[in-house]
Amino acid sequence: MYDLTKHFNYNRKEILRKINNVLNKGILELGKEVEQFEKNFSKYCKVKYCVTVSSGSMALLLALKSLNLKSKDEVITVANSDIPTSHAITLSGAKIRWVDVEENTFNIDVKEINKNINKNTKVILPVHLFGNPSKMNLISKIARKHKLKVIEDACLATGAVCDNKMIGSISDITVFSTNPGKILDGIGPGGILTTNNKKIYSKLKKLRDYGRSKRPGKWPVKSEIIGYNSKLSTINAAILNIRLKYLNWYIKKRNGNAELYTHHLKSDKIKFQEIDKGCISSWRNFPIRVKNRNYIYNELYKKKLDIKLNYLPPNHKDTCYSNINKIPKLPITEKICSQIINLPCHPYMAEKEIIKISKSILKIVK
Ligand SMILES: Cc1ncc(COP(=O)(O)O)c(C=O)c1O
Repeated sequence: MYDLTKHFNYNRKEILRKINNVLNKGILELGKEVEQFEKNFSKYCKVKYCVTVSSGSMALLLALKSLNLKSKDEVITVANSDIPTSHAITLSGAKIRWVDVEENTFNIDVKEINKNINKNTKVILPVHLFGNPSKMNLISKIARKHKLKVIEDACLATGAVCDNKMIGSISDITVFSTNPGKILDGIGPGGILTTNNKKIYSKLKKLRDYGRSKRPGKWPVKSEIIGYNSKLSTINAAILNIRLKYLNWYIKKRNGNAELYTHHLKSDKIKFQEIDKGCISSWRNFPIRVKNRNYIYNELYKKKLDIKLNYLPPNHKDTCYSNINKIPKLPITEKICSQIINLPCHPYMAEKEIIKISKSILKIVK
C-alpha cells in the first residue's frame, strides 16, 4: 500500500540530519520541533490551534474526552472505519450509534444522521473514508441545529479539501494520524488534533501530558486534570516538519494516480468511490467495488500484487462488539464491505505498476 523505503530516500539526507540534531540536543519530548510542527500544521490547515499526540487512536480518544461525555451520551459514527474509531468512543465511556453510509462516497449518510439523533446524542463523528471528505457542510448544519459537537476522523485525510475548505479547519475538532504509511507520516506512531476552540485546545494539551498545561519549564508543575501520557516524540515532529513541505505534492501525485486508475480500469463491472463537488480526496488508497471481490483478491494476492481488504469485518460485526445488545442493520455498509478492494495509490508509484494491477483485475472481473 506504500513504499516506506522510497519515501525515506526521497528526503534521506534532510531526515538523517534532523534526527542527528534532535538526538544531539537530547530534548526528545516536547522539544521545539513539536511546537514548530503544531504552528506549521495550523497554518497549513488554516485553523487556530493544533495539538500533536502519540497516535491517531489517542487523538480520537482525547478529542472525545475533552467533551466530558457521560455514559448515556451517544456518538453517531460509521462502522466502515478502522476499529480504533469505535474503540475510542467506547473507551471515552459514551455509547456508539453506528449509522449507514452512502453507496457512492462510502461516507456517512446525512439522512441516517437525522434519523438517529435523539435526546442522548452529543457528537457526530464522520470518517473521511480513504481520504474522501464527508459532506461537512450538511453535517455542520445538522450539528448547529441540534447543538451537537462534531469530531472528524481525518486519519486518512490529511491535506484533503471539503467545500473548498481545508480538512482540519471546519469542525469542533479534527483528528489525523501520522502513523507510517499515512498521507503525512513520521517514523513511528503519531497523531494530530486541530480546533478553533481555545478551551478545547487547552484541555487537549493537558490531556496529552498527565493533566499538565506547561512543560518543559520550571518545576514544580501542577497536574490540573486526570490525563494521559500521549505525546508525539520530538524526532517524529522534526520529520513531520520536513514532510509537511511536500504534503501538497503527495496529494497531487495521489490524485494523479487515482485518475490513472480511473482511466485504466474502465469497465461497467467496476465501481469507483465518488468525490463530492468542491472536495479533494487525499486518496490514502484507491478503493474499487467489484462483485467477485474475494476471487479477485485471492488471485491478486497469489501474484503478490500490493492490494488490501480494509476494513473487514465492519466495526459493528467485529468480535469485540459481539456482546452488545442490539447490533444495528447497516445494509449499505455491509454491501460495500463485501465488495471493496483497495489498490495502492502512494506518490512513488509508476504508471506501469498501475497498468499492471489494472490489467490483472480487468482479466478476471465478473
Ligand atoms: C479511519 C482511521 N481512524 C483511526 C485510525 C487510528 O490511527 P492510528 O493508527 O494512528 O492510531 C486509523 C488508522 O489507520 C484509521 O484508518
